[in-house]
Amino acid sequence: MRIAIVGTGYVGLTTGVCLASMGHEISCVDIVPERVTAINNKKVPFYEPGLAEMLSKVVASRRLYATTDLVEAITRSEVTFITVGTPQSNQGIDLSYIATAARQIGYALRHVSDYHLVVLKSTVVPGTTDTLVCNLLEEGSGLQAGEFGLCMNPEFLREGSAIHDFMNPDRIVIGQWDERSGQTLAEVYKPFDCPRIFTTLRNAEMIKYAANALLATLVSFSNEIAALCEVTPDTDVNVVMQGVHLDRRLSPVINGERIKPGILNFLWAGCGFGGSCLPKDVNALRAYARERTVTPYLLDAVMNINNKRPAILEKLAEEALGSLRRAIIAVLGLAFKPGTDDLRESPALTVIKLLLDRGAIVRAYDPFVTSIPPGLGFDNLVTFCNTPEEVLRDSDTAIVVTAYPEFAEWDWTTLCNSMRHQIIIDGRNILRKVPWPKKVRYIGIGRVN
Ligand code: UDX
Repeated sequence: MRIAIVGTGYVGLTTGVCLASMGHEISCVDIVPERVTAINNKKVPFYEPGLAEMLSKVVASRRLYATTDLVEAITRSEVTFITVGTPQSNQGIDLSYIATAARQIGYALRHVSDYHLVVLKSTVVPGTTDTLVCNLLEEGSGLQAGEFGLCMNPEFLREGSAIHDFMNPDRIVIGQWDERSGQTLAEVYKPFDCPRIFTTLRNAEMIKYAANALLATLVSFSNEIAALCEVTPDTDVNVVMQGVHLDRRLSPVINGERIKPGILNFLWAGCGFGGSCLPKDVNALRAYARERTVTPYLLDAVMNINNKRPAILEKLAEEALGSLRRAIIAVLGLAFKPGTDDLRESPALTVIKLLLDRGAIVRAYDPFVTSIPPGLGFDNLVTFCNTPEEVLRDSDTAIVVTAYPEFAEWDWTTLCNSMRHQIIIDGRNILRKVPWPKKVRYIGIGRVN
């Protein structure tokens, strides 16, 4: 099918490239000319493993091209996906990019004579597609919904494994204005072998929020248990959560073998969740609840627990050193999770701010991040280091913030010898099995150290 994709962020470009690799003809639209040029030159403007190789192939085979000309892209397509951003604003979400895209698509539909389906993929609160988006499309086009198709089709792409997630979906949720809309979208996804949910536009919108709210809740649940273990001698959150995981309802035993479902990855204590989705989506759902006079007790607690976790690492450092004034602290990991260079809502940024507030001298290292971008509130205040040796040399304490498995493979004996004070604070409990030399003070979370 011929498909236009409006917005080439990580959701839009991943969607475009994957659909092109399945044989569809894709026109990617973006308002930023440099982005369009980069895509046509087979360059991915952000980091997502495997995407550059796939983009290169689909551009070379002319299955995908990028343009700033929205009208042209839409007139040559049967389906248009909206994949523009919905940034956080005052706890809710900013719908201005969605509104602009819907208005422009509406006008473009005036130049289209055949039936055209518009699909909203961006994450929006329930009621956005059938009111704001629908109204703007109707206004712009002079048509009534039904004369054009309208679907809401949430994405469930994890950063770092977006291609895998797109090509191997757990489910495809098709919120539909009417049956014709849903059936047209089903054609786009025909090759996929997974459950499909055909439902209302609002259910589709709510499913996305509910899915991410559950993940955030599990992380905060584990972190609340950690906070309790931190004030209870002879407890250890890792052991406690191991005991929880072994419930067969969480890890079933099939043919004598225990299955470890991926959901268990969200049931480990740490220093909190971040990223472009979980915090924003939970906050948007909280704001949505309040607007409708529902108090979101659980979601409020999920965010409160999460907001408190980074401070625990700063407190542990202060307790270990007495004072953080002029102490050199090595922050290990800047990204919100391993395998990406994304710093959005990363707990590392909060930890760094708290350390700087206490007068510490902060250095940072991350295997994926190549520099600290300006504008984070600590320009020139943090030294970015390129190697583990550089970040740890002469430091007073190291704090692990991102759960990179490779940190556990480092030669810690040599690295610790280069430190001024050999104190390691492990905000993700990933270094528990390291055979620490006697002089090292290793401080895990979720226990009394
Ligand atoms: C998430 C959802 O998984 C995805 O389905 C949705 O479409 C977008 O949001 P992503 O933001 O890429 O994807 O990150 P994810 O891998 O889910 O991790 C979210 C956060 O939870 C990270 O900050 C991670 O470090 C944190 N986390 C995860 C914990 O703090 N503890 C855990 O035990 C697991």
